Amino acid sequence: MPIPFHIAAATTMPSRAGQCMYAKTEELRELGPAVPVKLPEGLTAWSVVRGETVSYLLAHPDVSRDVTRAVPTYEPGEVAWLAPWIDLQNMTTKDGAEHARLRRVVVPSLTNRRIQRLRPAIEDSVHGLIDNLSRHPAGASVDVHAEYSYQVPTLVICDLLGIPAELRPEVLRVFRLVARTDDLTEAEATQLNIDLLAAMGTLIAEKRSRPTDDLTSILIAESEKEDDPLTEDELIATLLLMIGGGSQTTINLIDHALADLTRCPHARQALAAGTDPRPIIEESLRKDCPVMNLPMRWALADIDLGEDVIIRAGEPILLNYGGHGRDETINPHAEQFDPDRTEPQHLAFGLGVHRCPGSNLAILEAEVAVTLFCQAFPHAQVIGDINDYAGPTFIGNDLLELPMQLRPTHDHA
Ligand code: HEM
Repeated sequence: MPIPFHIAAATTMPSRAGQCMYAKTEELRELGPAVPVKLPEGLTAWSVVRGETVSYLLAHPDVSRDVTRAVPTYEPGEVAWLAPWIDLQNMTTKDGAEHARLRRVVVPSLTNRRIQRLRPAIEDSVHGLIDNLSRHPAGASVDVHAEYSYQVPTLVICDLLGIPAELRPEVLRVFRLVARTDDLTEAEATQLNIDLLAAMGTLIAEKRSRPTDDLTSILIAESEKEDDPLTEDELIATLLLMIGGGSQTTINLIDHALADLTRCPHARQALAAGTDPRPIIEESLRKDCPVMNLPMRWALADIDLGEDVIIRAGEPILLNYGGHGRDETINPHAEQFDPDRTEPQHLAFGLGVHRCPGSNLAILEAEVAVTLFCQAFPHAQVIGDINDYAGPTFIGNDLLELPMQLRPTHDHA
């Protein structure tokens, strides 16, 4: 039985991040507090873009993360592209006590105190990446996305989870595909789900035979304890969440922060001279929200949003986190990256019980990556228009590449 929807879609969600997504966000903002949009595989969902409506629904008692509560006839895998977002047995698909039980397992590893201990190791990794970038000749075009922004979070998350070097390429390959919402066929999406589970199965078998003190081993220990253990499905789904949630999101943050900074010489100089990078990171999170639209939430009862918009029980809701930061009523001149903006407002990490527990880690990685990059390459420039590099997804604010000239040709340093 398909996922219900009581009216026709008013528009289609484009599968392209960047300027295309921002233009769509502004169009949807004008159309109403929630707008029925057509998504891949014939699914229709309510797109919610206005900042105050996003916040309202995030705190609404009749909005659930659990499709099985809202649509009792739902069969896992019904919509193949959506499966990694709604079928997995982890904290993102649960409410209430079930959610708290699954979240409790990872939160102690992500407290700010624990995360700050990772700083020296992250700085070491980033220095190594900068050394590699420095080997390119002056004037060359260098893909900073592939050689830097992508590397920092994937190295950090693989280290945090203790993923052995030989398993990293396959784990990272499948995660690159999860966020795609464009031309992945149903068969490809199904195969991807199989590959994801296989990669996690190999990782768990390897760590079971050689446990260490990393997060994977902690999760495996949770699955082996006597009292209320994690089930095998929960273990796999939590690992998938940590790798997926911890990598592409932070890659996007670093990509966009670097690109915006290339147009702000004074902010770059200040960072290189040691000013606190946090305000810059917050402004980047606001302007270029790393997760634009997060699938999926579900109405447990009819919700009247006014303006003749009623979300019916059982219908899917796609919250647009990026719409909040780009709302002119919340952040004036919202399209502009303003490194001196006082207190940029954003919902990049969500709000309430599901708020991102990895925010401390993401911010630390971005602070280190951006500061060291500005020190090493004070004159770096993006080559071409960043919108041409936007990734094929409406979920993340992904870039496929970020070509930069790191040093001008006359610089022989
Ligand atoms: C810039 C980087 C990041 C962004 C923008 C981001 C964004 C988000 C958002 C918007 C949510 C909330 C989803 C909701 O409302 O239901 C979320 C949840 C989550 N994030 Fe992040 N995230 C980032 C980095 C990380 C990192 C580094 C980790 C782990 C190491 C992580 C782990 C998680 C987990 C486990 C959840 C699920 C929380 C729950 O459902 O209770 N995230 N993230």
